[in-house]
Amino acid sequence: MSTALVILAAGMGSRMKSDLPKVLHKVAGAPLLVHAITSGAAVNPSRLVVVAGHGADKVRGAVETWAPEAEVVIQGEQLGTGHAVLQARNALQGFEGDVIVLYGDTPFIQPDTIARMVEAREKHDVVVLGFEPADPARYGRLVMEGDQLHRIVEYKDASAAERAITLCNSGLVAADAAVLFDLLDQVGNDNAAGEYYLPDIVAIAKERNLSATAVTCDASETLGVNSRTELAQAEALFQARARAEALENGVTLQAPETVFFAHDTFVGRDTVIEPNVIFGPGVTVESGAEIRAFSHLEGCHVSQGAQVGPYARLRPGAELAEKVRIGNFVEVKNALLDEGAKVNHLSYIGDATVGAATNIGAGTITCNYDGVLKHRTEIGDHAFIGSNTMLVAPVKIGNRAMTGSGSVITKDVAADALAVARARQENKAGFASKLYDILMAKKAKRDAAKAADKTEGNQ
Ligand code: UD1
Ligand code: CA
Repeated sequence: MSTALVILAAGMGSRMKSDLPKVLHKVAGAPLLVHAITSGAAVNPSRLVVVAGHGADKVRGAVETWAPEAEVVIQGEQLGTGHAVLQARNALQGFEGDVIVLYGDTPFIQPDTIARMVEAREKHDVVVLGFEPADPARYGRLVMEGDQLHRIVEYKDASAAERAITLCNSGLVAADAAVLFDLLDQVGNDNAAGEYYLPDIVAIAKERNLSATAVTCDASETLGVNSRTELAQAEALFQARARAEALENGVTLQAPETVFFAHDTFVGRDTVIEPNVIFGPGVTVESGAEIRAFSHLEGCHVSQGAQVGPYARLRPGAELAEKVRIGNFVEVKNALLDEGAKVNHLSYIGDATVGAATNIGAGTITCNYDGVLKHRTEIGDHAFIGSNTMLVAPVKIGNRAMTGSGSVITKDVAADALAVARARQENKAGFASKLYDILMAKKAKRDAAKAADKTEGNQ
């Protein structure tokens, strides 16, 4: 059966105190909204509708980048969660199948949980996701009898007895699209908040002799983000899970609590990650690599057996082949380093290709930017770039070619050639000691003047 996801993301999120809509705040490098979409991807949805309102233009922009398959609909006025879901009706005209409603500010619903909701739909018309938080606080309460869910009562509208119920509403709902919109048509706003409550569909379903039930999940999955504190908690929770998963998958983390993953980081087994390593989005590390302390990686690929760091920075487009070595204080951007290439110290390699087994000496810089345009540096296999070489791009260095230390290379170097581009050294006999004598005499004069000043001052 086909499934449509409807993601509610119209709320203002005023407690974030932000110019950015709440659902665009990031956890592990991806907007909260994208985490919700990723959870829902587990059921392979054929349709994806995001209900935006506050900051709709920004939400639309983010959706175009992160989930271009999604359709954005606008809820002009935030009249409640039920009203929000109704805004997806036109977009889903003609759609046959189930709708699953998710919240854009609830990033941790596990794919398996949504799968269990879909499974429960086989026996029930409406399936709601419930959870038992340590403190039920102001969540809506699920009024159950056996496996039948009778209704959901909002905290504001609940009696003392209902408030004593510990099973709470997460907000997630699954139902057949036609049934859902039909039920929503019946929802009114005669309640404490004066809003159209999505949860009210449950009581209406029961009146029509439809069956409703609740599937439950761990409270950690339903963590919603409403403030910066909760955003930080969400980040911490994501990181804790990602670290546990990496360890589980055979990755060594010497100090797991100091390693930060992005939402899409992939690390292969037997890779060792030293303390204080940060992964930005878009990183894949193959098996058996070594990411040493204090390295920062984003948008890059590290192949088997490669070594990175300590103190290395791999920026987007850095592509390291097998057994490449990137050492301390080396920055690599948009560059392909072929098998066994080495850049061990203090270098910038940007917009470049570096051939297999080529060695780049300390302090080498690819001067890729002329102030207006970027240019490429192409270095062949088995080349040797002397320390402190400036490679002024566009420039090509052939296979097995060498450059002398301190060279400023502005012209291509042919294969097997040695390029030296620096001032010639001149040695002047005896000059050093003469210079030393001159300097010592200057110092003596200055010291004498200082002493005279002091005596004068004391009189
Ligand atoms: C809602 C549920 C409550 C549940 C709780 C779980 C209702 C009436 N109550 O309460 O039972 O325990 O979530 O967190 O549904 N939104 C819109 N448009 C609107 C209103 C809300 O898009 O008009 C979005 C919000 O951006 C948010 C989500 O829906 O992502 C939930 O809305 P919120 O106002 O936070 O609902 P709660 O009062 O927390
Ligand atoms: Ca809420």
